[in-house]
Amino acid sequence: MRILSIETSCDETAISIIEAIGDFPTATYQILGNALFSQIEIHKEFGGVFPMVAKREHAKTLVPMLEQAFTEAELLENNPTELDHNENKEITSFLEREEGLAQSLLDFLHTHELSEIDLIAVTSGPGLEPALWVGISFAKALAVILKCPVVPVNHMEGHILAALYNVVEDNTLASIAFPAIALLISGGHTELVLMKGWAQYEKIGETRDDAVGEAFDKVARLMGLSYPGGPEIGRRASEARTAGLPLYKDKLPRPMIGTDDCDFSFSGLKTAVRYAIDNRKMTEDEKNALARDFEEAVTEVLLKKTTKAIDNFDAQTLIIGGGVSANIFIRRSFETELLRTHPDVEIYLPHRNLSTDNSIMIALAGHAEMANGRTGGALTLLKADGNRSL
Ligand code: KG4
Ligand code: ZN
Repeated sequence: MRILSIETSCDETAISIIEAIGDFPTATYQILGNALFSQIEIHKEFGGVFPMVAKREHAKTLVPMLEQAFTEAELLENNPTELDHNENKEITSFLEREEGLAQSLLDFLHTHELSEIDLIAVTSGPGLEPALWVGISFAKALAVILKCPVVPVNHMEGHILAALYNVVEDNTLASIAFPAIALLISGGHTELVLMKGWAQYEKIGETRDDAVGEAFDKVARLMGLSYPGGPEIGRRASEARTAGLPLYKDKLPRPMIGTDDCDFSFSGLKTAVRYAIDNRKMTEDEKNALARDFEEAVTEVLLKKTTKAIDNFDAQTLIIGGGVSANIFIRRSFETELLRTHPDVEIYLPHRNLSTDNSIMIALAGHAEMANGRTGGALTLLKADGNRSL
């Protein structure tokens, strides 16, 4: 089965074409084409992502990404696509709210023909609703052209499957032991999810305020670093470790570390950082030290709550997904700590290229949804759901 996948939930515009050989979860997934445009440089100017700016950029970038993915996959012909009057009308009406997108798609189709796709998988949530809608509308228009069904995918399921996808060796999903715990840490979410089997998700803990990635980004902003701050905090923290810098000030708090649940809270930690900075102009060393102190506080809380979840449910497997799983210190800390305290628990982390948002993970989740018989119904009923939950 050939899957075309689309991701536009935040600030990455991504389209992939994946060939799934076999059935979920034992299929082999060949990446035929993969195009991704990060809007980070555009959002840097504003210090964060404004949904309407993201939406406009997705609308501008989707057709170039489509062309790149199909070209890589060698599934693009230089013939005009033949569309009848009704198809033309449907495409235009699905894209009527997405500025310029209907015209750029129709222009592209005047000279190009796309072929041989069996399923379209598109992120329907969670995420920024205006941004999600662009991807959904585009998926509907492509379904008219490619004459195939569309399956709406949960972005967080994508992050889970990305962690299990072995893109280096055999292009399959790991065959994991259940129950499994998934720790999802991204810009918008921080959750612990219990999986008793494939595609069975039960949220057992979440943040009560800021998500981990959001906390990284806000703390970076307090230190005067540019958006998104997560990677920069990680870089500076590791410099502080190499240089053996002392604590920036007092030890930072570990919010909710001792509570008897699997929930998190990070806004108090961010406030503690704000007080520690106290509007002072910081030296580079001080910024590095504070970045490290913050990273350590976050990691300790994540570790504590995740091992509690593993113990509570006697989990055999730990999966870590979401953009913050790109953080080297968090990755290493989980690997070494878990090996020490839970040597029987197998840990899965995404390949670093698949940690942050991408459309490969959306294709994997689309295949999983199909296996569960959840192909989307009528195109007109497909909707974005910014708060979609696992
Ligand atoms: O999953 P993702 O790409 O988008 C969402 O679904 O939200 O996650 C983005 C988040 C941002 O907050 C970003 O700062 C954070 O992941 N992030 C990192 C690192 N790379 C990305 N946080 C800490 N260390 C990193 N290396
Ligand atoms: Zn994400």
